[in-house]
Amino acid sequence: MTILVTGCKGQLGSEFRKIASYSSDYQWIFTDYDTLDISNENDVIEFFQTHSIDICINCAAYTAVDKAEDDYDKAHNINTIAVGILARCCKLHNTVLFHISTDYIFDGNNDTPYTETDIANPISVYGKTKAEGENVIKKSGCYYVIMRTSWLYSSTGNNFVKTMLRLAEDKHSVNVVNDQYGSPTWAFDLASTIMFIIGRNADKEIHEIFNYSNDGIISWYEFANAIFRISGKNCKAIPITTEEFGAIAARPKYSAFNKNKIKSYTGLSIPFWRDSLIKCLEELNRK
Ligand SMILES: NC(=O)c1ccc[n+]([C@@H]2O[C@H](COP(=O)([O-])OP(=O)(O)OC[C@H]3O[C@@H](n4cnc5c(N)ncnc54)[C@H](OP(=O)(O)O)[C@@H]3O)[C@@H](O)[C@H]2O)c1
Repeated sequence: MTILVTGCKGQLGSEFRKIASYSSDYQWIFTDYDTLDISNENDVIEFFQTHSIDICINCAAYTAVDKAEDDYDKAHNINTIAVGILARCCKLHNTVLFHISTDYIFDGNNDTPYTETDIANPISVYGKTKAEGENVIKKSGCYYVIMRTSWLYSSTGNNFVKTMLRLAEDKHSVNVVNDQYGSPTWAFDLASTIMFIIGRNADKEIHEIFNYSNDGIISWYEFANAIFRISGKNCKAIPITTEEFGAIAARPKYSAFNKNKIKSYTGLSIPFWRDSLIKCLEELNRK
């Protein structure tokens, strides 16, 4: 079975490269912007014609949430149009598309965890382009698994955990938003769950959306304090409001997921956010 991973140099894509380094169960093809620009329709069509791909895991995305507010065309091109190109190629070649979506497709007005059937109502350009990306997949008729995730971090790339560690190098306190609640997700846990589904999904006939994050619901402020405490940094998080922080793009104030569906589909238990954070910090220490 051959698995194509697009956007392989990003946070999530890097976890699949790690998994591939010790798993010989599959043939792997890794591409990123420099080797396969998923928004280049001709290149993607040719790629699918010249490689026999059973599974495409799309880790490529435009993920700069604030920048997207002034760059709708680029975000739309990568998060929606390019996803449609991949989905049509998957349909044509009977490839199962694993695509990653986001909690930012929701407006955050819930006060209970979002289920897979809750209605998307994005409040940012990034969220809008990702919600549209889900729709083009559903309309394409390809076999798909859309994994919605939130607050993704890993030991590679740019993310909240690494930003906090960097700030703690020369600051004794950092202002952190304390009125947005959600769940962090260690990219390794998400990648492992996707591989579990791939391992089980022998018949390929799948059309599913799953929510996936680590367990537990916290604010960014609580997350920052845990990062400082666990990594032994002499830095304190100061709680501030979303308004005080003044980010360019709006974020949902509550974006926790209900994960009953993925739990019962896989039978896997989901790691608690703090346990996965400890593992990621240990991995960073070893680097
Ligand atoms: N990060 C989060 O907190 C978060 C939360 C929820 C959901 N998600 C979703 O999870 C998925 C993985 O996110 P991530 O954090 O791993 O993203 P990431 O670290 O930003 O990686 C995305 C990768 O895609 C590449 N890419 C961008 N445009 C491309 C194109 N046209 N063709 C091919 N590759 C392209 C990027 O290359 P360049 O670096 O060269 O642009 C980068 O290597 C995304 O779908 C994202 O929307 C992320």
